[in-house]
Amino acid sequence: DSALKIGIAGLGTVGAALAATLAERADYLAELCGRRIEVTAVSARDRNRRRGVDLSASEWFDDPVKLAREAEIDVFVELIGGDDDPAHAAVRTALARGCHVVTANKALLARHGVELARIAEENGVILNFEAAVAGGIPAVKVMRESLTGNRVRRVFGILNGTCNYILTTMEREGISFDECLAEAQRLGYAEADPTFDIGGHDTAHKLAILTSLAFGTEIAADDIYLEGIENISIEDIRAAADLGYRIKLLGVAQRTDTGIEQRVHPTMVPVSSEIAQVDGVTNAVAVEADVLGELMLSGPGAGGEATASAVMGDIADIAKSRPGAQRVPALGTPADRLAPYERAR
Ligand code: NDP
Ligand code: HSE
Repeated sequence: DSALKIGIAGLGTVGAALAATLAERADYLAELCGRRIEVTAVSARDRNRRRGVDLSASEWFDDPVKLAREAEIDVFVELIGGDDDPAHAAVRTALARGCHVVTANKALLARHGVELARIAEENGVILNFEAAVAGGIPAVKVMRESLTGNRVRRVFGILNGTCNYILTTMEREGISFDECLAEAQRLGYAEADPTFDIGGHDTAHKLAILTSLAFGTEIAADDIYLEGIENISIEDIRAAADLGYRIKLLGVAQRTDTGIEQRVHPTMVPVSSEIAQVDGVTNAVAVEADVLGELMLSGPGAGGEATASAVMGDIADIAKSRPGAQRVPALGTPADRLAPYERAR
């Protein structure tokens, strides 16, 4: 049987959208990949919750670590979230057992990415994480593949859909921060704990991954200068507009004389700039590189379907890969090029 067997741990906004999408286009994916993709195992907390997709053909596990250890799978898809167990233990277990892993979990990678990349390498398996940075935008692929040979000067962007949705909706509709946040939660954009969004932590997790890929440094999320948007008021947004600016929560990593500086904070950008036009849940990732020049990618940064699209692409890559030709993620190189100022924080 040449089918690629996958186990999905986490059936919330992203996991349920992924399961539904894989089911709906099973034949199409089989044609594209040359083999079927079968969801043989699933896991979540509440077995009785309705998820809008028929999962009766998949083996159910209450415990995602048990799924990672025991299920008959080739690929473990982690869509639980959080930088700790059970997500951490489940991903480690799957990799150590020789399963490929696909995850959207930037918090996990920001804290344990180097360790997980090493376990993947030791076991000759793939660790794919396109959805962990800017949702549906293929930023990881661009950094890992398309920019090879360039020296990156700067990478920056709008990396959190919830914050950009709040800032643009406050400006356009004149409604309060709390109402905008509640709507972003309802739409499935926010983290389980939305303080990770508005406090800038989620942007920092994604920036740390981007920095590592762009500059070949070790992931160092704790070194990032961090300010969120929780104190931004409608008055601040209007005052900025009067001066010809918009307020955006940016993540920025750039080469300096002393190393790579990483920071996350609300930033006034000129209304006429490309990044100021990025609206709602849309994210943007901008790169300045010596051979390429300047590039800005923009697209849906959060939401079940857009994120499931990136996860599906990662799974399809594995389905199409040849044994022995696995890519090793570039997350494990030394941290000696990070700026001392940022590392000291
Ligand atoms: P949800 O909170 O909607 O779903 C989480 C899922 O994990 C639920 O099915 C939940 O079970 C299950 N789960 C949570 N804790 C446990 C546990 N202790 N044991 C077993 N299962 C558990 O999250 P999302 O789908 O929004 O996000 C999933 C991941 O994708 C996160 O890492 C997130 O950061 C990332 N991501 C999310 C995006 C988005 O737009 N939502 C975009 C990009 C990345 P149950 O349903 O039974 O409660
Ligand atoms: N909570 C995140 C956001 C999800 O709002 O961007 C996508 O990573």
